[in-house]
Amino acid sequence: MFNQNNLGNINGFELFDDEFMESIRDNVGSFHGLMARYRCAMMEVETKLKVLNEHCSFEYERNPIESIKTRLKKPRSIIEKAKRMEIPLTYESIETHLADIAGVRVICSFPADIYQMAQWLLEQDDIRLVREKDYIKHPKPNGYRSLHLIIEIPIFLQNEKRWMKVEVQLRTIAMDFWASLEHKVHYKQNIPPELEREIAEDLIQCAQIGAELDAKMENIKNRILGLENGHLYQDL
Ligand code: GTP
Ligand code: MG
Repeated sequence: MFNQNNLGNINGFELFDDEFMESIRDNVGSFHGLMARYRCAMMEVETKLKVLNEHCSFEYERNPIESIKTRLKKPRSIIEKAKRMEIPLTYESIETHLADIAGVRVICSFPADIYQMAQWLLEQDDIRLVREKDYIKHPKPNGYRSLHLIIEIPIFLQNEKRWMKVEVQLRTIAMDFWASLEHKVHYKQNIPPELEREIAEDLIQCAQIGAELDAKMENIKNRILGLENGHLYQDL
């Protein structure tokens, strides 16, 4: 299915490590195989989240998930990161050390939905939690908020079961809006230092306003639903 010609689609490899480049050339199928496994793991996680959303739609007449985005890390970024981490450039070490090759971003309606989705996902008996970072309870100094989970999920192939790592980022629409703007600023070159400082301060302020908006909207939703304790889901 995969052949040498596919290499033409792998941008930028020639700029990087010759040895790894050679191992990819020798066995381009393995590289595509690795990426295919990550794509499968991403699909599994996305399906689980869609099932949870569907469950809520049926059971609670609401959708906690606004949208789900998935992405596979580009070969160039994989190699750059492996080099930064000073790990061997082999498939095995990349799979062991890089946790964000497969990424699933879950945009939730309200902050409580984030924690509920994360809890229900992690309670599933084929999901292993590798690492959790709660940047909502503990925002980054720049104002970044999101809940990050590194999980492992099994994918079933012809004769084998492989556990694959997937990075799941859960955030509200407001947190996502903020993160995409901040990301743009971060990657914009040649901003004068003075302007950069001003923007950084404004972004911290925007993150705070976003958090207040999320809290207020959640409060309104709870009042509409007549929830005394603020929890819609019975098992919280
Ligand atoms: P890498 O950044 O992937 O090397 O991982 P890390 O180990 O520092 O992980 P962390 O969980 O802190 O961040 C992982 C991802 O979250 C990033 O790749 C971004 O997608 C997102 N992220 C983290 N911090 C920020 C931030 O300050 N701004 C924005 N826009 N995104 C962020
Ligand atoms: Mg990353």
